[in-house]
Order: sequence, then structure tokens, then C-alpha cells
Amino acid sequence: MDTRLLGKIEVSEIGMGCMALSHGYGQIPPEQYSIEAIRMAYEHGCTLFDTAEVYSPNLAGIGHNELIVGKALKDIRKNVVIATKIMPSRTSSFSSRFMYQTVKTHLLASLDRLQTDYVDIYYLHRTNGVSVENVAEAMGRLIDEGLIRGWGLSQVDVDVIDIAQKVTPLSAIQNIYSMVERDSETGIIPYCMEKHIGFVPFSPIASGLLSGRITTETQFEKNDDVRNWVPQLSRKNIAGNQPIVEMLKRFAEKKNATPAQISLAWMLHKYPNVVPIPGSKNKERIIENLNSSEVELTEEEFTTLENSLNGLKVYGHRGLRGL
Ligand SMILES: NC(=O)c1ccc[n+]([C@@H]2O[C@H](COP(=O)([O-])OP(=O)(O)OC[C@H]3O[C@@H](n4cnc5c(N)ncnc54)[C@H](OP(=O)(O)O)[C@@H]3O)[C@@H](O)[C@H]2O)c1
Repeated sequence: MDTRLLGKIEVSEIGMGCMALSHGYGQIPPEQYSIEAIRMAYEHGCTLFDTAEVYSPNLAGIGHNELIVGKALKDIRKNVVIATKIMPSRTSSFSSRFMYQTVKTHLLASLDRLQTDYVDIYYLHRTNGVSVENVAEAMGRLIDEGLIRGWGLSQVDVDVIDIAQKVTPLSAIQNIYSMVERDSETGIIPYCMEKHIGFVPFSPIASGLLSGRITTETQFEKNDDVRNWVPQLSRKNIAGNQPIVEMLKRFAEKKNATPAQISLAWMLHKYPNVVPIPGSKNKERIIENLNSSEVELTEEEFTTLENSLNGLKVYGHRGLRGL
């Protein structure tokens, strides 16, 4: 698979979001299946694996997902890029005075679970009111100590990115971005391009909406399934967004690809610094998503898609409560 740069860190142009193997999309697979799925993605050319300390069933407990990622990647560690995230709490340990020690303590626990002695990209998962300058300083020290290769921010605006970037240059910004969630196009992605920062879209298939496999009749799971509260996936908004899904289906058929693949190929074509991390707990769909890398859009096809999208109204956002 072709590679791209997140700052100075080289990764496959499509990564794997590992969250659903622990949280967020209902019943999680047996651990052995998840480990095999991650290994299969690697064998298929994927070298970027995204996790977070908080990805655990129902967000209760810490580290379920990092443990799986660690088991899957430990013997090919040097060949892959592992990105994980620290979630600050509103406690005094995240005050400016203790920031470096607190971030390091969280990092060391993640390293232990991931069975490695460094993380490639360490994200601040949410700012949650902490001093981003202090976090940036702490990350700079951890880079100097060799415990992380680079760092990033998640779900932030340009003003926050700019503050952080001036203290310790960033490798990546991980924000929500898809054909139906395009706010980052106006300020954030151009800023990242200018500063050579990678942009890593999360929920790039809009939590499944852009696959065309979700209808107004789809029943989401009862337990630990974010799709129950994602506003874009309310019955009304699924119905409202059908013209976008139908447009994508027609386009995909002509290209002999799937709608999910077209939605990923579109963002790869649009920006050279974008590396999406689609998530799936199904081996076939993980491969389908990675194969988007082979779907080439001509300039004319891209313009057709872009014009069609610009002409269609988007109903609802994904919402920011999810992790
Ligand atoms: N930084 C943050 O705050 C943040 C927030 C959310 C997510 N993330 C990261 O981003 C990754 C991806 O985000 P996400 O999982 O929320 O959204 P996503 O990749 O847009 O969508 C995942 C959903 O789409 C379905 N899906 C995926 N590929 C499909 C395909 N080809 N055909 C049909 N359905 C498909 C999956 O179902 P199946 O499992 O049944 O295939 C799942 O329900 C996560 O794993 C996580 O690492 C980060």
C-alpha cells in the first residue's frame, strides 16, 4: 500500500481504527478474532493502528483495547506505527504543576499494556480544560526521552493546534471527518498542510452511514453502541441523508467499488496529508476498507463527486460525545 507522512512518521495511507474491538459498536468479537483481524490488516499492508487508553467495554475500566493491540503487534512492533491517546480527567493531577509526571504515568501504563517501550504517536484525546501548552511541553520532553516519536491532538480547532504547535511541533491531528462531516476543510486541514502535520480522520465512514448498509429499519445494538445517539443516525436523518448515500452507491457501481471505498478514496484524492482510520470488527470489511487504497479517482471523477456532494444537504452531525 502507498504510504504517507504524519509529520515525519511514515504510515500506510489507510490505517486501522481498533476501537470497535473493545467499545462503541455493540458486542465485541472474541479476543482471538480481534488479534487475527489486526494481524490480517498488517499482512494486507496496513501499518497504522489506532487505539486509546479509554477504549474498554462501556468505557468502564482502562486499556482493554491497548492490551489487544499489544498482543497482536508485539512481534512485528518495529514494522508498525502505534497511535494511542491519553484522556485527561478534571483532577489536580492534570494541573500545570504535575502535567509532565501525570502524562508520563499514563504513557508508561499504556506502554506496559501495548508490550512496547515507545509509542509512535501519543494523542491528547480531548483537551477537557487542561493547559494545552503544558501538555505540549510534557510531550516534548517525552520525545526527547525516546518514549514517544511524535504527538497529536484530537477533536480540536485551529487556535488550540496553533498554541500547541508553537511549543512542540505536532505529528498529527485526529478529528472527525467524512463526506458528511466537513468542518475541518475550512481551517484545520489547510493549517495542517501548511505546517506538515498529518490529518487523521476518525469516523471516516460516518459510523457506517456512507457504506450504504444502514437504512431507517436498521436496529443498532442495545449495549455500548454509539449509533443509538449519533444524531446523524436518527431515523429522520438517515432518511434525510439518503440522497447522499444513493449518489455514492451509483458512483461506486460505475467504479466497481463499494460506497465505503469511494468515500475513503475521495478524501485520499482530496488531500495529500490525510490518513483515514476506518473501524470495523469484521475481517472482510477491514480488507474492503484497506482496498480503498487501490481505488483511483481521475480528476474528472473527483470533481463530479465533489460537485454532487456540494449540492446535497447533510442532515445531522455525528456529535462529539463519542470517543
Ligand atoms: N479521536 C477520537 O475522539 C475518536 C472518536 C471515534 C473514533 N476514533 C477512532 O476512529 C476509528 C474509526 O471510527 P469509527 O469506528 O467511529 O467510525 P467509522 O470507521 O466511520 O465507522 C465504523 C462503523 O461502520 C461500519 N463499517 C466500517 N466499514 C464498513 C464497510 N466497509 N461496510 C459497511 N459497514 C462498515 C462498522 O461496522 P462493522 O464493524 O460491522 O463492520 C462500524 O459500525 C475508531 O476505531 C477509533 O480508533 C477516534
